[in-house]
Parts: sequence; structure tokens; C-alpha cells
Amino acid sequence: MTGMKIDHIGIATSSISEASRFWTEALGMELGKVEEVAEQKVRVAMLPTGESRIELLEPTHDDSAIAKFLEKRGAGIHHVAFRVKNIRATLDQLKANGARLIDEIPRIGAEGCLIAFVHPSATGGVLVELVEHVD
Ligand code: CO
Repeated sequence: MTGMKIDHIGIATSSISEASRFWTEALGMELGKVEEVAEQKVRVAMLPTGESRIELLEPTHDDSAIAKFLEKRGAGIHHVAFRVKNIRATLDQLKANGARLIDEIPRIGAEGCLIAFVHPSATGGVLVELVEHVD
């Protein structure tokens, strides 16, 4: 678990095209492809920065978790994602440590990655995502 990298920072927005303007026009970052993740009812845009990315999340339905987050908290940081080599082993390690998980079994996220969320109650209030890149 040492030396884990931050894979991305997830930011909730009601409009990717509006929110991306700051990152692309003001900061000069590049907007990668925008992808719809139907299972999570979001559109996802990745903006690479160094070894990490900014992930903009826009709801596609009113009942998506991101829509609920926007309603409750407004636009802003939604989660921090760490890149792990073996997501199942990391989940086992967290379970063994009594950490409350949202996903006990990894699911498929953007770019075909395996992802799982750790409950904010286990992390001091931060929604943490684990990501395993699958080649
Ligand atoms: Co994410």
C-alpha cells in the first residue's frame, strides 16, 4: 500500500462543458474524451495533469448519486481516488481493518477500470475511491 498514487480527484458538476472551461481555458489542461457510465448515471470527463487526472462528473439522471450530491452539497470535490495494483487485495485489507466499504466487490468504472468506494465514515469524512487499471 505504500507509495499509492492519486489516480484522480472527482469533482461533481451540473455541466461538464461549463466546469471544464476553468481547467482547459484558464489552466491550459486538455479535456480527454467524455464518457457515459450508464451504471452510475453520469457522464465523466478526464483532464490529465501529471500522473493524475481531474475527473468531472455530471449526472445524467435526477436519481444518480452525483445529482443527489449536487442537491445536498453543491458543485465541488466529490471523491479522491487512489490507484492500487490489486483492488481485491486492498478491499480485503480494509475489511480486515474494520473499514466500512460501500463496494465490497469491485465494479466497472470509467475507462473500464475496476473501482470500489470506501465509506466516508471510515476515512474521516472523505469519499475514497480505489482504482485498478486493467490493461
Ligand atoms: Co472517480
